[in-house]
Amino acid sequence: MADLRGLLLMCVVFTFLSFNPGNVEGRKHIHKKQKSRSSNAESPISLSPAYPPATPPNSNDPTPTDPTPTDPGNSTSEPCVFDVTSFGAVGDGSTDDTAAFMAAWKAACAVESGVLLAPSDHVFLITSTILSGPCKPGFVFQVDGVLMPPDGPDNWPKSDSDKQWLVFYRVDGMTFTGRGTIEGNGQKWWELPCKPHRGPHGTSLPGPCNSPALIRFFMSSNLVVSGLRIQNSPQFHMKFDGCEGVLIEKLSISSPALSPNTDGIHIENTKSVGIYNSIIANGDDCISIGPGCSDVDIENVTCGPSHGISIGSLGVHNSQACVSNITVRNAFIRNSDNGVRIKTWQGGMGSVSGISFDSIQMENVRNCIIIDQYYCLAKACLNQTSAVFVTDVSYKNIKGTYDVRSPPIHFACSDAVACTNITLSEVELLPAAGELVDDPFCWNAYGTQETLTIPPISCLLDGEPQSISETANFGC
Ligand SMILES: *[C@@H]1O[C@H](CO)[C@@H](O)[C@H](O)[C@H]1NC(C)=O
Ligand SMILES: *[C@@H]1O[C@H](CO)[C@@H](O)[C@H](O)[C@H]1NC(C)=O
Ligand SMILES: *[C@@H]1O[C@H](CO)[C@@H](O)[C@H](O)[C@H]1NC(C)=O
Ligand SMILES: *[C@@H]1O[C@H](CO)[C@@H](O)[C@H](O)[C@H]1NC(C)=O
Ligand SMILES: *[C@@H]1O[C@H](CO)[C@@H](O)[C@H](O)[C@H]1NC(C)=O
Repeated sequence: MADLRGLLLMCVVFTFLSFNPGNVEGRKHIHKKQKSRSSNAESPISLSPAYPPATPPNSNDPTPTDPTPTDPGNSTSEPCVFDVTSFGAVGDGSTDDTAAFMAAWKAACAVESGVLLAPSDHVFLITSTILSGPCKPGFVFQVDGVLMPPDGPDNWPKSDSDKQWLVFYRVDGMTFTGRGTIEGNGQKWWELPCKPHRGPHGTSLPGPCNSPALIRFFMSSNLVVSGLRIQNSPQFHMKFDGCEGVLIEKLSISSPALSPNTDGIHIENTKSVGIYNSIIANGDDCISIGPGCSDVDIENVTCGPSHGISIGSLGVHNSQACVSNITVRNAFIRNSDNGVRIKTWQGGMGSVSGISFDSIQMENVRNCIIIDQYYCLAKACLNQTSAVFVTDVSYKNIKGTYDVRSPPIHFACSDAVACTNITLSEVELLPAAGELVDDPFCWNAYGTQETLTIPPISCLLDGEPQSISETANFGC
């Protein structure tokens, strides 16, 4: 008991140091201590700050009801809860609660194991905000209620960035969790006349087209994002750039199939990422992996409707891209425009290597397996003499059904730089309905099939291209 009191005192002292001592409201939170650390599965303390890849998803996952393995001691890990309503947040869905969240962030971030709590039964509206670290170890941002941005471009403050909403910047060791919802209010952004097919008669008009990514982690490390529902983003739902050590699990991400550019999880320049046990339905890539990513492990993710799991696009404007050591296992992709895709522009340099797609179930998917090195959004992209080198890509146990509008296997590699060491085994893809129109397609693709595929593929080239030694590595 003495420990507990000492702890409370610590929390109080920190709170007074970090928060306006004259504000009586602000003090209330110190009494809202977490009651039990073991009975409540949602308790933030039960989430270990486990950094991938040290934590395989299914094998030795510490169960939330067993606190022992994640409890580092008895003094530093007791949470101090900073309830945003104690900082003046109203949570009625229309009052701007940004200032309260900023104040709660400042206070919670300044104590060890601080918990910023957005409680249930409230709808908090905040405007585009950058929450900066560093924070003390064990920081938790817990959303049990609803957190949302203003509704559409007309309500977006003119002085705010329209490229991002909630940004976490320079944070090390943070957990973002809760049983609540991040509601993106994306509808009016998707309907901007500049968006595909949203102009008159299905056209796309010129005009302002920026739309905010909902949640962005920028230059941060050792992050856990868990349990939340994230939906209806104006643009990407979650974006990680310049991060290292990211564990994402048990998320539910959703927006309509026709919502433009609503990638589920996008990572770039980010290393050591685990994405597990999540369900994503949206209008663009389910997961997209941009340049500068390595050591990414994805398991037990369900995608669809969506545009599948994508590496790329890479090499735009002749840029260098290095992507390596990406594993996708036990995924289920349904009703999607692509299954597992690698896409690069003409030009560019660098390489995509060490990619493994293992045990992917497809259901009614166009382009189940695709490498496209001629990716192009402009009207005419000219072929170029350089390219991002694609090598060591394996497809194993990829089964299910495809949408016959596109061949289920498509390897369109650059003329300038062949793809090498593509391996296929246990690939069995059948038409979801109707009959196959086109056979599998290969262009300048070298590799082997270890078992016969369905449909049969005869277009892979044997061995290696003569120029391989010059192309290997490509500066990565
Ligand atoms: C718990 O706290 C007491 C007193 O601060 C300390 O002596 C003891 O070693 C701590 N136990 C653990 C497991 O950290
Ligand atoms: C896979 O993820 C789903 C959705 O989160 C979850 O219900 C299921 O238990 C997970 N399966 C395994 C084997 O972990
Ligand atoms: C590949 O990434 C995994 C994590 O996904 C990591 O455990 C492994 O060490 C990496 N392999 C190499 C060769 O770096
Ligand atoms: C680029 O090269 C591909 C493969 O050789 C060819 O099919 C395509 O027509 C070329 N595109 C242009 C614009 O030259
Ligand atoms: C081909 O790629 C696999 C991984 O998919 C790798 O284990 C193997 O070493 C590569 N083979 C060559 C000859 O590089």
